[in-house]
Amino acid sequence: MSVLLARQDTAGPSSHDRHWRAGTVQAVSPPGTADLGPGYLEPGLLPVDLIGEAYARMVPEFGAAALSYGENRGALPFREAVADRATALDGTPCAAENILVTAGSSHALHLLGTALAAPGQQVLVERTGYDFGRAVLRDCGLVLREVATDADGIVPEALDEALRTAAGQVAFVVLTPTFHNPTGTVMPLRRRLAVLEVAARHQVLLVEDDAYAELDLDGTGVPPSLASLAGQRGVVRLRTISKVLGPGLRLGWLQADRTVVDRLASRGLLVSGGSANHTCSLAVATLLRDGGFDRHLDWLRSRLRDRRDALHGAVTEHLRGTVEVRRPQGGFFLWLEAAQPEPVLLAAARECGVVVAAGSRFGRTGTPAVRLSYSFNSPSLLRAAAARLAAAWKGTS
Ligand SMILES: Cc1ncc(COP(=O)(O)O)c(C=O)c1O
Repeated sequence: MSVLLARQDTAGPSSHDRHWRAGTVQAVSPPGTADLGPGYLEPGLLPVDLIGEAYARMVPEFGAAALSYGENRGALPFREAVADRATALDGTPCAAENILVTAGSSHALHLLGTALAAPGQQVLVERTGYDFGRAVLRDCGLVLREVATDADGIVPEALDEALRTAAGQVAFVVLTPTFHNPTGTVMPLRRRLAVLEVAARHQVLLVEDDAYAELDLDGTGVPPSLASLAGQRGVVRLRTISKVLGPGLRLGWLQADRTVVDRLASRGLLVSGGSANHTCSLAVATLLRDGGFDRHLDWLRSRLRDRRDALHGAVTEHLRGTVEVRRPQGGFFLWLEAAQPEPVLLAAARECGVVVAAGSRFGRTGTPAVRLSYSFNSPSLLRAAAARLAAAWKGTS
C-alpha cells in the first residue's frame, strides 16, 4: 500500500518529531501551551516520506546534473512543471520562460526589492498584511506605505490616491488577493479588475504574493490570479512550496513577463550561485510530474479543512457576541476582531496558556484583532484552545 493511502493523521512512519527542538527548527512552542501562532504546518502534516521518496527517485535520474550549479532561471523540468500547472489551473498560458525559481517567496521579495527598486523608493503594501514580508522589503532600504483595505482587500480608490500623491516614487505594490495572511480574505473578481485598472493607469508593477493559492479548502474555486487576468503583463506572481510541502525545502518560484524573469536571472546572486535550491527543485519536479504532489495536496486540504472547521466551529460556539469572525474558504488563518483592547486580549490568552498572533503585528487594524492559525494543531486541541480563550476573554469584557 502506498504511504499516502496508509497514513491517517500523520505524514507517515518517518514523520517523528524527535528533532523538533530549539537549535534545529526556527521556533518551538513553550511547553504546555496551545500554540495558535505559527503560520506553517504542524510536524504531522509535513510529508516526510514523500520527500524522501522523491529524492531517492530524482538522484539516480538526474545524476551529476542534480549536484551542479542549476541554470540561473531554475532547472527546466521544474519550470515546465509549474508553468503547465499554472496554465491548467489559471486558464491563461504560462510557459517555462515566464518562471524563475526562488528560495521561497521571502527570497523573491528580496530579489524584487533589490533588482526592481532603489533604496529610498516606496513600496505600497496593504494596511494589514504579511509582517515578515515587510521586514524583507525594509532590509532592501525601501520605504513602506500602507494602503487602506476593506473586507474585499486593497481599496482601488485608496491605491489610486496613494499612487497619485507618490508622483512616480513607487517601485511596486505588494498584495495578497487570495487567502490573505492574516485576514483570510479572497478578493472578488470585480475588485481584482479594478485594482489592475488602477495599476495599469499608473504603470506600476503589482507583486501578487500568492503563498496560499492551492489551499482552497472547500473546492468552491477562487477568481483567476491577477497575473492571469493581466496576461502576465505588469504583475509578478510569487508562489511557494512552503505552505504545502514544507518551508524547510526553501523552494518557490515567480511567474512574470519574460523581460522581468531575464532581468532577475541576470542578478549577481543567481549568476554566481546558479538557481536557488536546484537539487530540491528537481526532487519536487518528480512529484509534480507523477501525481504525488496532487495526492498529497488532496490529503492536506482535507486535514486543513477539519482543522479550520474545528477552530471556526468552537470560536463561533464559545465566542458568539464577543468577537467578529469570518469562516475562511482557504489558507491557514482565522482573523478575530474584538471590542477589548489588544493588550487585554493578549494578556488573557497568555494567562490561559494559548499563544495567538497580535493583530498589530500585521500593520494597522482599525479594530483590535488577533490571528489564530489552524495549521499547527490537531482539531481536538484547536477546539480545547478556543474554549480556553473564550473563558479567558469573557472574564475581561
Ligand atoms: C503571504 C506570505 N508570503 C510569503 C510567506 C513566506 O513564504 P516563504 O516560506 O516561501 O518564504 C508567507 C509565510 O508565512 C506568507 O504568509
